[in-house]
Amino acid sequence: MAPIKRIGIITSGGDCGGLNAVIKGVSREAYAMGIETVVIPNGYAGLYNLINLDKVVFLNAERVSKIEASLAGSEAGHSRVKISKIKDPNKYERIKDGLKKFNIDALVISGGDDTGSVVVDLSGKGIPCVHVPKTMDLDLQSYSVGGDSAINRIAIFTRDLKTTGLSHNRVVVVEVFGRYSGHTALRGGIGAEADCILIPEIPVDFDVVYDHLKTTYMGRVKRSDVKAGTYIIVVAEGITKAGGEMLYDESAGVDAFGHKKLAGSGKFVRQELEKRLKKDPEITQFMKDTGMYAPGVYEVPEVREVVPGHLVRCGDSSAYDVNFGYKTGAAAVCMLLEGKTGNTVVNVDGQKIYYQATSELIKRRGVDVREISLYESLGFCFGRKTEKFNCILEEVKGPVSRHL
Ligand code: F6P
Repeated sequence: MAPIKRIGIITSGGDCGGLNAVIKGVSREAYAMGIETVVIPNGYAGLYNLINLDKVVFLNAERVSKIEASLAGSEAGHSRVKISKIKDPNKYERIKDGLKKFNIDALVISGGDDTGSVVVDLSGKGIPCVHVPKTMDLDLQSYSVGGDSAINRIAIFTRDLKTTGLSHNRVVVVEVFGRYSGHTALRGGIGAEADCILIPEIPVDFDVVYDHLKTTYMGRVKRSDVKAGTYIIVVAEGITKAGGEMLYDESAGVDAFGHKKLAGSGKFVRQELEKRLKKDPEITQFMKDTGMYAPGVYEVPEVREVVPGHLVRCGDSSAYDVNFGYKTGAAAVCMLLEGKTGNTVVNVDGQKIYYQATSELIKRRGVDVREISLYESLGFCFGRKTEKFNCILEEVKGPVSRHL
């Protein structure tokens, strides 16, 4: 491989926390090695159109210092464009010409599974590139920058919603991003001590959710000296019913990668619970016993859904993601210099940079449901009949695998 003198940075897919740290990690490590870095703006759309740009932005020390790593989003911009889907038979030549025009020898590309599939594609076409894992969905084989920031935001929003839930004695359903994996709903929900967490990996039995809601919510209001209580559900956008039917709004359409946009699971959960609340005589009695019943006006507790949407992946980057972004960005430069094109940085631990073939790393990883019974034994509901947690002990010999 020809010596690398200039690296282009691309961020692609959904933005999230930690990406600016990746950009800074790449450019500062490259600078330390006497290599230049430039921004290829707006993801793969920018890569395809690079040939038309008059100039690219150089990430010199001064420009890099203007980027705030603790802010989410990406200074390099994003798009959801899959190169192989572009209707232009000469697209790869066009990309190569664009890279040549600006003397860009190699790429560091940060993104999730779709982005990674393009890394495999480009690498196979002879464009040297290394992948830095990024997705708030946490559905890659390794940790990905953005996950921790999103989990923290979900936990904070959900906890905050308890104050309004408590004031109105409402059931609050919080629908969160995460596509077909429940990692962020699970971790954010536990972080906020939500009562119920519904994830794609566990088909939802709404009768189970309703029973848990009734016992928990009614107990809370009854025990409260001021008759206040709430019940909080965190629901992932990709949940299914028993039988595998997905619960989302068909009208949301598809994104530029061709994936269904998932929306509407919160509404669906609300409707299922409302149906049950309305026809339950025990609820009417509960409303009367607790002094809330107002005939014709307020006969059952209200259920509200809240959809924070992009708020879970914007704003602040967690310190963890800044750490992870910096070190994996820097590691990507070392990997490029070692000719590890088509690979993803997994982690930096001590002096070692762990990496995996991008084609393997992007295989979808769901929540390991064997862990769920542990949380069930602690009182959390997951929309299924609770299962007993069987402890299996194993002593670790040698170094413990770790991220920090
Ligand atoms: O993949 C990240 C993610 O935030 C998903 O959790 C969500 O379904 C999707 O992106 C939303 O994408 P967009 O920002 O394109 O609407």
